[in-house]
Formats: sequence, structure tokens, C-alpha cells
Amino acid sequence: MSEKILETIQERLSSRVPYEPNRQVPKEDLKKILEAARWTPTAHNMQNFDIVVVDDKTVLDKIGNIRSKISEEFLRENYEQLSFSREELLKKKTGILGSMFPPEWVDPAKISEAVKKAAPMPLTQSIRGSPTLLIVVYDSRKRAPASHGDVLGFISLGCLMENMWLMAQSLGVSIQILSALSAPPVETEIKKLLNVPDYMRIAYTCRIGYATAANKYFRVRRDLEDFVHHNKYGDRVSNL
Ligand SMILES: Cc1cc2nc3c(=O)[nH]c(=O)nc-3n(C[C@H](O)[C@H](O)[C@H](O)COP(=O)(O)O)c2cc1C
Repeated sequence: MSEKILETIQERLSSRVPYEPNRQVPKEDLKKILEAARWTPTAHNMQNFDIVVVDDKTVLDKIGNIRSKISEEFLRENYEQLSFSREELLKKKTGILGSMFPPEWVDPAKISEAVKKAAPMPLTQSIRGSPTLLIVVYDSRKRAPASHGDVLGFISLGCLMENMWLMAQSLGVSIQILSALSAPPVETEIKKLLNVPDYMRIAYTCRIGYATAANKYFRVRRDLEDFVHHNKYGDRVSNL
């Protein structure tokens, strides 16, 4: 059992390829993903989320037609996380490969110009054929008790993400997290379209479905001795 759980955790990944537009996630599997959401641990058991399931083609098309513009802030901070070869990524053990992005997005000398020139992109380019979106919203007027900046509330939303992701993984359903739908003005347009009250914010969106191509890509993680400290910060663990 514990081996199976670990295997599911290790195999869970971001599936960024296009999905089959006409292959819906079966209702019983969608329900299992939502049931996993239901049992999410949250600070003070506040259950500080709602999920808008969008699987109506007309609504998906309307969301897809909303345009979003890439920000310089995103590109500059994204650059900090990039490696430019598998060797560099293997050495760093954190971050992602620069080859996932257009060349002008990954050259600091060209970023300002690229942002100026970039035409706003329709969200269809992010949704990539997904037949279903799970839009996770939370009530921005509330916070977990005495949690400054509602850090505990946001951690809870992360637990929700992982619960749904692991369930989807175990069902063979692909997921990609989309942050692009949470940033204003896109967020405002989507909320209007879906009748989401003003005070609710979009935390993130999961696009789910079935990948049209192999998902496997080069993924790295730090080793235990890179982040585990034993009894005292700085005392590394090499033989746990
Ligand atoms: C809070 C959060 C936001 C994320 N936003 C995005 C996103 O907007 N687009 C995307 O492709 N992946 C997004 N991801 C996925 C991460 O990039 C991914 O989990 C990480 O690179 C590790 O890769 P893996 O999921 O394949 O293990 C997000 C993940 C988290 C936890």
C-alpha cells in the first residue's frame, strides 16, 4: 500500500501536451477526483474552496477566447528557474528546462522587447483541447484564524491541488495546473462569465483530460540530503 502511494506520488506529473477534445473524463472518475477534493485537509477544517467544473463546450470556447498578455515580471522571475541543458538541470536539481518556452522569453536581453511585441494570446493556447476545467475559487474575505496573509488558507488550497492531482494520476487522467486564469484582468473576465461573486478569487485551474502525446519529460528533484536536516539545521542526513 505505502509502495503504491509512493509510486503514484512519484509518477504524478504536469501534462502540458494537448488533450483529446472529444474524450470526456467519465462521470465516475470526475466524481472520484471531486471526492478526493472533499477530503482535503484544510486549516481549521475551513474547507475554504469551491470548484467550478466547466465542461460545456460553449463555455469552454468563451473562456478560450479570452486573451491574456504575458508580463515582464513573470518572464524575469521565470528566467531565474531555468536551466539550458539536461546536465545543468541535473546539477541544479530544481527548476525547469528553458526549451519549454519560446527563445525570446528565455533571453534576459530580449525579454522587455518580447513583452512589448507580444500579442495577447487566447486562452485556447493554454487550455489545449481540454474537455474539462476545474476552476478552484476561494473566499478572499475570510482567512484561517490569525493566519497573516492567509498563509494557512493558501497551504490548504495546495493540499486540495495535490489530493485531486494524485487521484487523477491514479485514474490515468492527465492534469496541468494553469495559473494564467487567476491573474487579473483574465480572472475578472472568467468570473463574470461564470457568475462567480466578486469576493471570490480564482486560486488556480486544473485542465484535465487525456493527453494526445506521451507525457514523459525530463524531471528533477533534490536528493534527501539536500533538504533534510537532522536535529539541527545544517546537519545533513546522508544515510537515513
Ligand atoms: C501552485 C502551483 C502553480 C502552478 N502553475 C503552473 C502553471 O501555470 N503552468 C504549468 O504548466 N504548471 C504549473 N504548475 C506545475 C509546476 O510547474 C510543476 O508541478 C513543477 O514544475 C514540477 O513538475 P511536475 O508537476 O511534472 O512534477 C504549478 C504548480 C503549482 C504547485
